Order: sequence, then structure tokens, then C-alpha cells
Amino acid sequence: MTPTPADLPALRRVLLTWFDARGRDLPWRVGPEGGRDPYRVWVSEVLLQQTQVARGQVYFERFLAAFPTVEALAAAPLEAVLKAWEGCGYYARARHLHRAAGVVVREGWPRDFAGWRALPGVGPYTAAAVSSLALGEARAVNDGNVRRVLARLWGEARPSPAWVQARADELLDPARPGAWNEALMDLGATVCTPKAPRCAECPLAGWCAARASGDPAGFPAPQERAAVREVRAVALLIGDAERAVLERRGGSLLGGLMGLPSEEVRGDEGDAAALARLSARLGATVRGELGEVRHTMTHRRIRLAVYAGAGGPAPVPVAGEALSRLDHKALALWRQRAASLFAPK
Ligand code: ADE
Repeated sequence: MTPTPADLPALRRVLLTWFDARGRDLPWRVGPEGGRDPYRVWVSEVLLQQTQVARGQVYFERFLAAFPTVEALAAAPLEAVLKAWEGCGYYARARHLHRAAGVVVREGWPRDFAGWRALPGVGPYTAAAVSSLALGEARAVNDGNVRRVLARLWGEARPSPAWVQARADELLDPARPGAWNEALMDLGATVCTPKAPRCAECPLAGWCAARASGDPAGFPAPQERAAVREVRAVALLIGDAERAVLERRGGSLLGGLMGLPSEEVRGDEGDAAALARLSARLGATVRGELGEVRHTMTHRRIRLAVYAGAGGPAPVPVAGEALSRLDHKALALWRQRAASLFAPK
């Protein structure tokens, strides 16, 4: 039931025929197959590592409007790039993209997988995606969708990364590597979905071991999740939702971005101790509690208690800064709560 080497030509033909008819129409999929604009492909692949395609499209259009070419990106100040990245998370990726754009402008576009891999921030996934889509190089991508599709085809409950890469390399259609990679991604995203795969619509159903088992969604087996660290912190909103005191965060709380001044709550101390530390550091006083906001990332769950403050440094306009979603939630809290909290009694 699993694909054998003799099945490969038919399997490739069937999936590519499906992709040619059903593949998604996405804004970075323009230009000739295997020869697309490397800039658009690269930016989209970096964005899509942390974002679903639906939201990724919005961020992609926004980023391309701000920096339409690699020259524009390289020439922009880092702060402007971080601002355009706002909401996309993992800001190290935006910093790398900016730095790598400088390399590309000085040295020209990479000519192959190894050249892409040598750019700052470009790992094996991105290098395989861009070299197949923009250069037509025969490199197989290995992402979450590909892992699931291949695990099901072969009925492998616990596919290791090396196993997935080996199967992906074998299957890859060397004549149309970019289309092949995107066909697997689209199949995984639209048909071979995690919870309720639509096997009746799947062009590969006849070869699929997971389908034959009767429990396609059971493959691959759920992975043990890395522990999620709980982070508790307090923040002071001095000013209002439009103008507030901001500082550059350090450490584990969204380090590197600007945000409301905050302090992590350490060990078993309470919020009050962290708040006292924060107001002493800023030379500010606490006016009242606005509420709590939460933000969950892959390995961290942040709970931020937000207090209104007075005094301390001067508020600045928040609109010009790249803020995390957590900080936007804190500012939204001000819009909801400040009027009632500080209304004259
Ligand atoms: N996810 C990552 N890269 C993608 C692409 N090129 N098309 C669709 N989904 C993707």
C-alpha cells in the first residue's frame, strides 16, 4: 500500500495534476515556475514559518508595500523594518532579513541552495524553499505539512526529521521541484489536514497507508510538547493609549522590542514586589490596576498585570514604534478601562 519506487512516476503525475488544478492562488506565487522573484519568495517563506497562510498574506502585502525590493529593504533603518514586522512575532527573523538584504545588495542574489544557506537567518527549510521556487533547484522542503503527508503515506507514526527528509528527497519531482514542494504543502494545508483529513478528495489516497489503516488522523502520533514556561510580569502604563512611556525590553519578555516598562515577577514574590521595583526604577507612582493581558507563544505563556502610573519619564507617541501584540493588548485595556477607573466619583 505504501508507495514503491515503481509508483513514483504515477504518484508525481497525479499530485502535480491536482496541484495545477487546485493549488492555491497566493501573492508570492507569481512568475515562471522555478524562476520566481527571489525577494518575494524569500520574504514569504520567512513570514510563513510563524504564521498561517491567511494571516501571512496580509503581512506579506504590508511588508512588500513598505519595502518593494531588496534594495529598499537594505536601505531602510532597522527600526522601520521592525515596525513593518509588527504582529508577525519572532523579530530576530526581521533583523536577519534586514542584515541579509544588505549582503544581497553588496554581493548579488545567491545562485544555489548553499548560497542561500550562507545568508544570515536562512536555515535548511528556507534555503530549500527559495532555491526550488526561485531557482528551480531540486531541493525538497520538510515542514509540518510535508511531515504529516509523508507520515500518512507510509503509515509512519513517529517520523524522525531524517526519515522525513529522506522520503521527501526520494519523492521530489526533479523536473518540477518548486511545484512539487508547494503541491505537498497545499495538500497538507487543504486536504491532508491534521484532524479531519479529506481522504475522499485526496489524489494520493490509493497509495496511503494511513488511510488503509482506517485511522488516517492517527498519523503521525501526537508529539510530546516542550514544556511551556509561565512568565508573570507587571507593567506600568504612564500616559494613555496614544502616548505612553516605552522602553526597550531585555531578557525573556519579548526582548529587543519597545514596550511598556515592565518587570518580571520573580520566584514566589507577588505582583506587589515587582511593581514596587518597577515604580522605583522609573521614579513613578501607581494610580490603579487596569487589568491583565495574556499572550501565548510556542514556549512561553505570558501573563502581564497592567497598572496605570504617573510621573517618571515622558510619554512618547506609540504609533511610530514596533510593539508586540502583548503591548497592543495592554493599550487596548486602557481604552476599555481607563474612563471608568479614573472617572470623577
Ligand atoms: N507555507 C510555507 N511556504 C509556503 C508556500 N510557498 N505556499 C504555501 N504555503 C506555504
